[in-house]
Amino acid sequence: MSATYPAHTRLIRSLIREDKTLELFVEEQPTRAPGADEVLIRVEAAPINPSDLSLLLATADLGRAEQSSDEHGPKITAPVPERGFAAMQARVGIPMAVGNEGAGTVVAAGDSPEAQALLGRTVAVMGGGMYAEYRTVPASACMVLPEGTPAAAGAAAFVNPLTALSFLEVARSGGHPAIVHTAAASNLGRMLNRICLADEMPLINVVRSPEQVRLLRAEGAQYVVDTSADGWFEQLVEAISETDATLGFDAVGGGRLAGDILAAMETAASRKLTKYSRYGSGKKTHVYIYGRLDTSPTTISSGIGFAWNLSGFLMPTYLATLDEATRNRMKERVANELTTTFASHFAETVSLVGALELDALRTYSARATGAKYLIDPSLG
Ligand SMILES: NC(=O)c1ccc[n+]([C@@H]2O[C@H](COP(=O)([O-])OP(=O)(O)OC[C@H]3O[C@@H](n4cnc5c(N)ncnc54)[C@H](OP(=O)(O)O)[C@@H]3O)[C@@H](O)[C@H]2O)c1
Repeated sequence: MSATYPAHTRLIRSLIREDKTLELFVEEQPTRAPGADEVLIRVEAAPINPSDLSLLLATADLGRAEQSSDEHGPKITAPVPERGFAAMQARVGIPMAVGNEGAGTVVAAGDSPEAQALLGRTVAVMGGGMYAEYRTVPASACMVLPEGTPAAAGAAAFVNPLTALSFLEVARSGGHPAIVHTAAASNLGRMLNRICLADEMPLINVVRSPEQVRLLRAEGAQYVVDTSADGWFEQLVEAISETDATLGFDAVGGGRLAGDILAAMETAASRKLTKYSRYGSGKKTHVYIYGRLDTSPTTISSGIGFAWNLSGFLMPTYLATLDEATRNRMKERVANELTTTFASHFAETVSLVGALELDALRTYSARATGAKYLIDPSLG
């Protein structure tokens, strides 16, 4: 092993207490030396993704959040509603480390040649607990960034890129000619748009404001449907009719949108029927709910035929079903196109302490377009 590093590292913890209170705080713990096949990363960039917000905030009511501080920095407390508390029994009393992915410099490495080869390199990793000054991870989990690439450019190299690429795999393996995607002006949506343009996979982007339509059109999107506009359902049916889309990925989750997409697919298919059937078109359709931007119940109405499917989608679970060659091909593409196809946009960079300032917390937890934050734990 080589190099020096501090004996202690600071990290963000999220704790649900027995009294149904969420507590967010910065904690100090001993820095774990890397084992033979491990490396120690000085974390310099970690995005606050929607999935991190779920773990961090645990459905707590931020409207009633309070800020205090101790010797390590700010502390946030907020009440957790009864329903959220009941669903999270397994984490009550356990301080959780947060931050799915991130990037930084390898400052110490185990004795194995694979680990030693990473010493001094900037790497990205989906290691969990990345809102920390230092993080020890397996060398094999690291993606080496090209020489000179800033950590921020590799901070979001896993979660969104591999999910967007997975959508293409699902489409191709299922013989789907086109994809419908919601919350399409998200970082992930913009990546998916770039991938689909490059790979000539027709993509119908569903958004909820005229600004989002402009944003996606400026990036070359052909089909963009704005649910805030009159006649949007008919526009969606038209786009589905043109492309024959039978596959949807919905990040909104709550409300009517997933059901409306299934209904639009069935409407498009029914219009092409030459013979009426009371059982609908028989066209197989599938919408995956892969996010919960809206936490209200999912509503499915009639008019969707009888050959529809609605299910959940989680990238790591899906990746585990693929063979290693396919997974490696996807990761290689991300590494090669990190600053182009898979570039993410961040509105602000904050320190660990800055991430727990109540104003910042309220801003980035809104999950608004273009408002994603990056944490740089090396800023303190
Ligand atoms: N299942 C998986 O494996 C997996 C993996 C990666 C990502 N995801 C999901 O992918 C989604 C996008 O992630 P990201 O990092 O790209 O997000 P992001 O860049 O933070 O963008 C979030 C987008 O969602 C929109 N939005 C927020 N609340 C909404 C609502 N209630 N209805 C409609 N649109 C809403 C925002 O638009 P406004 O400005 O209009 O609010 C914004 O465009 C998230 O839901 C995330 O959880 C899932």
